[in-house]
Amino acid sequence: MSDTAKLNIDGTSYDLPVVVGTEGDRAMDIRKLRQTTGYVCLDDGFANTGSCESAITFVDGEKGILRYRGIPIQQLATQSTFVETCWLLIYGELPTREQLKAWSGLFTKYEMIHEGLYHHFDGFPSTGHPMAILSAMINAMSCYEPGLMEMEDASTFQVSAARLISKLRTIAAAAYKASIGQPIVYPKPHLDYCTNFLHMMFSIPYGDYEPEPEIVAALQLILILHADHEQNCSSSTVRMVASSGANLFASCAAGVCALWGPLHGGANAAVVEMLQYLHDNKVDLKDYIARVKDKNDPLRLMGFGHRVYKTYDPRANIMKATADKLLAKVKGNDPLLEIAKRLEDVALKDKYFIDRNLYPNVDFYSGVILRAMGIPVNMFTVIFAMGRMPGWIANWKEQYDSGGALYRPRQIYTGQSERDYTPIAERGTSDCLAPKVSKKGRPYCELK
Ligand code: CMC
Repeated sequence: MSDTAKLNIDGTSYDLPVVVGTEGDRAMDIRKLRQTTGYVCLDDGFANTGSCESAITFVDGEKGILRYRGIPIQQLATQSTFVETCWLLIYGELPTREQLKAWSGLFTKYEMIHEGLYHHFDGFPSTGHPMAILSAMINAMSCYEPGLMEMEDASTFQVSAARLISKLRTIAAAAYKASIGQPIVYPKPHLDYCTNFLHMMFSIPYGDYEPEPEIVAALQLILILHADHEQNCSSSTVRMVASSGANLFASCAAGVCALWGPLHGGANAAVVEMLQYLHDNKVDLKDYIARVKDKNDPLRLMGFGHRVYKTYDPRANIMKATADKLLAKVKGNDPLLEIAKRLEDVALKDKYFIDRNLYPNVDFYSGVILRAMGIPVNMFTVIFAMGRMPGWIANWKEQYDSGGALYRPRQIYTGQSERDYTPIAERGTSDCLAPKVSKKGRPYCELK
């Protein structure tokens, strides 16, 4: 194959170097495009844009392949732990026994949060969404770690990374406790990462929670499966914020905000809400599928479709098998799992889904598992964030180490050409002068 691509603009031919990845993926290098041609590329949603070169995670959306640092997700899911996977993603190799011991030791050392941080929880209303609290608390954490704002050496980075991953579970569980009006539970140093989180979530002052091993294993699996996914919306956000020179805490707090949206990490909660709605209202699944296909209806089948996967998401397969196993052990039948399976069956036989290559994604079954573990729906995306943290950190590090350029896309301006300022007295009147009230009682100004 050619190592240059030819571009013809107005009769002039330009050679664009072709960049080839280790798995054969090919890109036209347009880094000098504007400088040499005056043109930019238009690619809203960036579906055709490689924003960086990265050695962290490989996804082949056509073949349904996902590998962290070269290792297939199926192997990590069955043989690794979340703590080990964090090291792998961040440092590129599986840790030796000694490295793993030291790394786990850091997680134990930093599991407590500064006592001052606990007071922040009092400032949030009990209705505050845990993702808002999580993002705010990660930023607040940086105020207590001024020495970690500058990456002076490799140890500053390692301590920051370990603090973030370790303390995130403490903050997440504390946010939950604050939201239900229970006292915050402190971590226990002898517990492993997942058991410790479950302890802080579900222990009460007069009774320690001792989770079934299957529940701990399911949490471990969920965290591993979510740990990275190349240039997804939140990881790209982290890299974009990092590209301005912002510190690790600020960049990851931004990642939490990006993850929150229902088209990204918020989909796991949206799936369970959808299944609950279908169950409670005894909705005919064929009718529901007809609605999600209707272009006049904004409804989408949550947990279906993916920007990159055009086949079954490999993580969804693993999730489905785990949902079956876990429910059989701890909950018996869950009607929502049955609805999910029937819904999948109807969708996968439907021409609309076949033509558009829409398959279940990681979120389709994860919510059912989290529900079986007793995790409340508004904490689902928080668990996703806990899982994705090592991926964000690995991407932050890669961006930082590469001395990568400031992320600053161009645009094609489609607004007004130059015009003069009109004094307010000469602008006429509009309906906006009579504010309206929305159905929910909110005053607003309708624009015409
Ligand atoms: N239900 C119904 N129609 C869909 C769906 C869906 N879930 N997903 C895509 N489509 C249709 C869409 O309407 C469009 O149809 P047409 O070509 O007729 O206009 C076509 O499929 C392509 O959709 P798109 O929005 O251009 O595709 P995309 O690659 O930009 O979207 C997506 C990817 C994940 C945003 C989308 O599939 C979606 O909204 N899914 C539901 C939300 C969801 O489950 N998100 C979790 C994603 S995986 C975890 C993560 O990344 O965090």
